[in-house]
Amino acid sequence: MNVENVKPTIGSIVHIERPALFSDETAQRCLELLEERQVLVFPRINLSDSEQLAFTDKLGARVNFTNRVPGGDKASKDVYTITLDPKINTEPEYVLGTYFWHMDGITVPIPPPKASVLSARRVAAKGGQTEFASTYAAYQALPAEEKAELEGLRVMHSVTAAVREVATPESLDPYRRELRQEQPLVWTRKSGRKSLIIGYTADYVVNMPKADGRALLARLLEWTAQPAFTYRHYWQEGDLVVWDNCGALHRVIPYAADSGRTMHRTSVAGIEAVA
Ligand SMILES: [Fe+2]
Repeated sequence: MNVENVKPTIGSIVHIERPALFSDETAQRCLELLEERQVLVFPRINLSDSEQLAFTDKLGARVNFTNRVPGGDKASKDVYTITLDPKINTEPEYVLGTYFWHMDGITVPIPPPKASVLSARRVAAKGGQTEFASTYAAYQALPAEEKAELEGLRVMHSVTAAVREVATPESLDPYRRELRQEQPLVWTRKSGRKSLIIGYTADYVVNMPKADGRALLARLLEWTAQPAFTYRHYWQEGDLVVWDNCGALHRVIPYAADSGRTMHRTSVAGIEAVA
């Protein structure tokens, strides 16, 4: 396994022969690298759905997707198809909402997915790159006084906030319209390491005037999205990217609904509750 770092704070390109991807040793090394680098890219490794699931299972417990959600793939259980093709996805606002920085699974009261695994089946001619921002690196680089000010603050996250740029609350289905979850602004891991929980799901800071809290959230997001802490992946068909969903934000650069862009996502269940 040959690892090439992209930026000092984030991103590694991993070169590995396909059969070696499924060994215990590789899984262990990938989990360590995810902690350190947040984003791992396996260029043009061309996994099938069953291979992607096998690799996902090596990293931890698999998140189950039902076939009832748009994009829940009937052919491959637990593989989620991300597309704006109206024939497959009848709820485009949730994909359009991913044009904006977010973490997955932060609006529900269970540990957020530990890692997401995404493979490119068809790429868009224009747009469709995925960007990642390290919330570990962003927190780490804050001045000490600012870190002290953030300690103890809590933030309300919701689906309505996440899709506010592309949908009204009325256009969401009643279940998701109600999804909201309070989270600490700073997540301190059992290991002692700290990161920020921010992004477009963040609606307001609890017990702070709305304007002040939203201004704080906007400043922290701008800080986190600076080039030093971010990596943009230009997809090629067959690329596989794994990222640490708990230590990085992600978003996609807009692409056309008829671009054919098709991604297959699998997820590794969270193992540490937010504390
Ligand atoms: Fe996402």
